[in-house]
Amino acid sequence: MDLLQSWRAMVLLCLLLPGGRPSPCGVAISPEEPAVELGSSVVLNCTSSCGNYSQLGWEVSVQKMLAQGPGWVSLHIPSVSDWHLDLQCFGVFGKQRDIAVTTLHGYRLPLPQIDLGEEMVAGREARVACNVSSRLLPPGPLDLELTLTLSAGGRTLSTARGRPWLVHGFTARPEQDGQEVTCEALLHLGRRWVNASAAATLRVWAAPYGVNVSATPDPFAAGENLTVTCRVQGNPPPQLRWELPSNASLELRDGNATVAVRGAGRQHSGTYRCLAANRYGAGAARADVGFRGEVPAGSPRSPLVPVAVALAVVVALAAVAGLWYLSHARGWRPMQEGARPG
Ligand SMILES: *[C@@H]1O[C@H](CO)[C@@H](O)[C@H](O)[C@H]1NC(C)=O
Ligand SMILES: *[C@@H]1O[C@H](CO)[C@@H](O)[C@H](O)[C@H]1NC(C)=O
Ligand SMILES: *[C@@H]1O[C@H](CO)[C@@H](O)[C@H](O)[C@H]1NC(C)=O
Ligand SMILES: *[C@@H]1O[C@H](CO)[C@@H](O)[C@H](O)[C@H]1NC(C)=O
Ligand SMILES: *[C@@H]1O[C@H](CO)[C@@H](O)[C@H](O)[C@H]1NC(C)=O
Ligand SMILES: *[C@@H]1O[C@H](CO)[C@@H](O)[C@H](O)[C@H]1NC(C)=O
Ligand SMILES: *[C@@H]1O[C@H](CO)[C@@H](O)[C@H](O)[C@H]1NC(C)=O
Ligand SMILES: *[C@@H]1O[C@H](CO)[C@@H](O)[C@H](O)[C@H]1NC(C)=O
Repeated sequence: MDLLQSWRAMVLLCLLLPGGRPSPCGVAISPEEPAVELGSSVVLNCTSSCGNYSQLGWEVSVQKMLAQGPGWVSLHIPSVSDWHLDLQCFGVFGKQRDIAVTTLHGYRLPLPQIDLGEEMVAGREARVACNVSSRLLPPGPLDLELTLTLSAGGRTLSTARGRPWLVHGFTARPEQDGQEVTCEALLHLGRRWVNASAAATLRVWAAPYGVNVSATPDPFAAGENLTVTCRVQGNPPPQLRWELPSNASLELRDGNATVAVRGAGRQHSGTYRCLAANRYGAGAARADVGFRGEVPAGSPRSPLVPVAVALAVVVALAAVAGLWYLSHARGWRPMQEGARPG
């Protein structure tokens, strides 16, 4: 009694509300926008909003299997082979008939392929291409997006829309060696999309650059140990050679990066030239290493040297004084005579 009254009240409310007439019985398909990889199976479900249907079913032009329960009938397609397949589900409610339609999108996962082209050399033009094999894509207008990004930091390098390839041209830099690029393909299927991505590592070769030569100590004194070092960058690591003022008592260390001279002498002063080369080019740098003297700094000087110098100075002064006295003593007398009056 109570239940019936509240039921009536609800129906009345629905009728009175603007546009709120009791919704006629209907059918719905789930998922709403099905997309499935070609060759695989799919199950779609059609449900009725009322239980009093006389018929509930699918209209499909492919091989199918149906299952049903109270208020629903499902469609199982064991192997999807079409890019687009229109599907209809219908329900018959007395004289009323309702139809739900949808399009089943079949796709192939368009796995992108990255092409790094010729070998990349720093300072030269390089290109990265990303392709999706077009025979894997549905015919007709293509709603495909390709995006090329640097994996570290995710910086976008290039994008393409509506075509299955993109090419990114740039000038290769040494620091790009080892960086990873990712190409992502995004295929829109109605309101849904599927994506796939591929990655590749950049290999950037570089001729020798930033060649530096430094020496310690510079200048050096006789008997000191002299070290001259060559620094260089390049890929592959450049081989080093030296042009040296002398190769007496020296040793090459660290794969020719360092020249070590033990107990250096005057013959070790001069130009140290480092020659770097790899298969992409060559570079060179030099250092002019000075010689500070035979006597190492800080060693005591011979006490005889200042004595001899002082002696020489005293002798010279005495000689000058003697000469001065003699010349003036002689010239004094006539002046005195001439000055005397009368
Ligand atoms: C279809 O949907 C109904 C209602 O949501 C559910 O009870 C039934 O299990 C579904 N059938 C399949 C095959 O998923
Ligand atoms: C089926 O039931 C709904 C309520 O659930 C009702 O509105 C509709 O009139 C009924 N249709 C038939 C044909 O009985
Ligand atoms: C990628 O696309 C470009 C441009 O269409 C083409 O030149 C190149 O051969 C393609 N590469 C591959 C691997 O398909
Ligand atoms: C697809 O896109 C999502 C969201 O953007 C992302 O998380 C996922 O890694 C992508 N999958 C592939 C294979 O790129
Ligand atoms: C050589 O020196 C220059 C300038 O001082 C510097 O920019 C460069 O990085 C150095 N190269 C190496 C390999 O250290
Ligand atoms: C030079 O190096 C050698 C070892 O390599 C060391 O025995 C010697 O004391 C060094 N000489 C000087 C002046 O530092
Ligand atoms: C260095 O030594 C080689 C022999 O090992 C000799 O042929 C060459 O002339 C020397 N170079 C100099 C600059 O002394
Ligand atoms: C060092 O230099 C010599 C010639 O000066 C060369 O024969 C040798 O291969 C070099 N070694 C390296 C590791 O570069």
